[in-house]
Amino acid sequence: MPKHEFILFKNMMQPGYAGSLQEYERAGGYQALHKFIGKVPPAEVTMAVMKSGLRGRGGAGFPTGVKWGFLPKDYQGPRYLCCNADESEPGTFKDRQLMERDPHQLLEGIVLTCYAIGAESAYIYIRGELILAAKILEQAIEDARAAGYIGANILGTGITANVWVHRGAGAYICGEETALLESLEGKRGLPRFKPPFPATHGLYNKPTVVNNVETLANIPHILGRGPEWFASIGSPPKSTGTRVFCVSGHVKRPGNYEMPMGISFRELIYEVAGGMRSDKPLKAFIPGGASAPFLTPDHLDVKLDFESVAAAGSMLGSGGVTVMEEGTPMVWAALRLMEFFYHESCGKCSPCREGSSWLVQTMRRIVAKRGQMEDLETLVDLCKNIEGRTVCAFGDAAVAPIMSTLKYWRSEYVTLIQEAEAANLIKLEPAGAKR
Ligand SMILES: Cc1cc2nc3c(=O)[nH]c(=O)nc-3n(C[C@H](O)[C@H](O)[C@H](O)COP(=O)(O)O)c2cc1C
Repeated sequence: MPKHEFILFKNMMQPGYAGSLQEYERAGGYQALHKFIGKVPPAEVTMAVMKSGLRGRGGAGFPTGVKWGFLPKDYQGPRYLCCNADESEPGTFKDRQLMERDPHQLLEGIVLTCYAIGAESAYIYIRGELILAAKILEQAIEDARAAGYIGANILGTGITANVWVHRGAGAYICGEETALLESLEGKRGLPRFKPPFPATHGLYNKPTVVNNVETLANIPHILGRGPEWFASIGSPPKSTGTRVFCVSGHVKRPGNYEMPMGISFRELIYEVAGGMRSDKPLKAFIPGGASAPFLTPDHLDVKLDFESVAAAGSMLGSGGVTVMEEGTPMVWAALRLMEFFYHESCGKCSPCREGSSWLVQTMRRIVAKRGQMEDLETLVDLCKNIEGRTVCAFGDAAVAPIMSTLKYWRSEYVTLIQEAEAANLIKLEPAGAKR
C-alpha cells in the first residue's frame, strides 16, 4: 500500500503533541483563519468547500459546501452552526480522538464555517459520556478566545463567532440532526419531520447547519491548502479526502486509522489493522457503523468510498469497521445490535417503537432455541414494515443487522430453529413411549 499524507492526524502523530493552542499554532494552526476571515468573501469560502468535494463524515455523506449553500442568502436574523459530536454509533470512536487530541483543529474549522455561513453562534453538541473531550474543548475555547480567534471582533475584523459546548444526556437518537436540535433547545430529543430542513428552520427555527466533528476538522486544511489539493486525495470525484476509519473487533490492532478514501477493506483489515487476531479466518464485517448492513469476505476488495460500499449493498456511514472472525454466531451478533436499537428507539414512530420490540423478542426466541420456521417470515415482515416508514433514518438502521444476516447467514437461523424443533419433538414424546 503506498504511503500517504495524514491530514487530521498529522499533528497528533508528532511525539509529545498535546494539542495546546501554542503547539497548534507552531504546527501552522489558525493560519487559514488569518488568511480567510474578513479577507475572502464568505460565498467564496463556501465555493472552495464545494470544489473540494468534501462530504459529511457523520453518516449520510451529504456534500458539505452544498449544504452550506442552502442557507437563505437574504435572511437578516440569526443563523447557527451545530457541531455534531454526539458520536453514539456502536463501533465509531473517531470524533472523540479528534476532540481530545487536537481540539483547536476542530475549533478553527468551526469558526471558519461560522464565517462562511454568517453564524455568530456555534454549539458543539457532545455526547454526555465524553467528559474528557468536553473539558478539553472548554479549555481550548477559553484559550482561543483569549488569543482573539473566538468571540467578538475576531482578529480585529469585527466578525463575531462564539462557541459553546453543550453536553447531551446519552441518547443515540440525539445524534440525528433534528433530534439534536430539539435536545439543544431543551426539549426531549425526538426527530422532526423534514421538510422543512435545518437549512431554513433549524435551531430556534432559524437557518442552521449541522455538521459532524470530522467534517468540520477538515475545513482549515481545505482552505489552507486549496480545494484542488483536497479533491485530488482519495477516490475522486465523489469521495475526496481521507477518512478516519475506526477498526474494532477481531483484528490484531484495533484503533482509529486515517486513510485516503478508496483503499480496500482487505488493505484496511489485513495491512493497516494487522489482520485477524487469531488463526481463524474472517467471517463478517460491518463497514460503516452499526447502522450499515453486514458484508462478507467476498467484499474484501470493495473500496472504502461512498459509491463502492453502496454498490456492495451497504454504506460507508460513520466509518466504523467492525470485524468478526469465523466462529462468531451471526444470529447472536444481529440480536446484540438489535437490542441496542430497541433500547435506543426514541418511541416517536410506532413502526420503530413497536417493531423493534417484536424483532428483539423474536430474535431472542430464535437464539434461545425456541424459534419456529415461521419466525423467519415474521422477521422479514417486521423489518419491511419499519424500513422507510419512520420520521428519521433510525428505522432503516435498526433493521440492517437482521436483514443482512438473513441474506448471508440464513442457514444459521435455520440451524437454530431446526435444533429447537428437534428438541421440541423429543419433549413431545411421552416418557417411556415405544417407537
Ligand atoms: C439515529 C441517527 C444517529 C446519528 N448519529 C450521529 C452522530 O452521532 N454524529 C454525527 O455526526 N451524525 C449522526 N447522524 C447523522 C446526522 O443526522 C447528520 O446527518 C450529520 O450530523 C450531518 O453532518 P455531516 O453532513 O457533516 O455528516 C445520525 C443520524 C441518525 C439517523
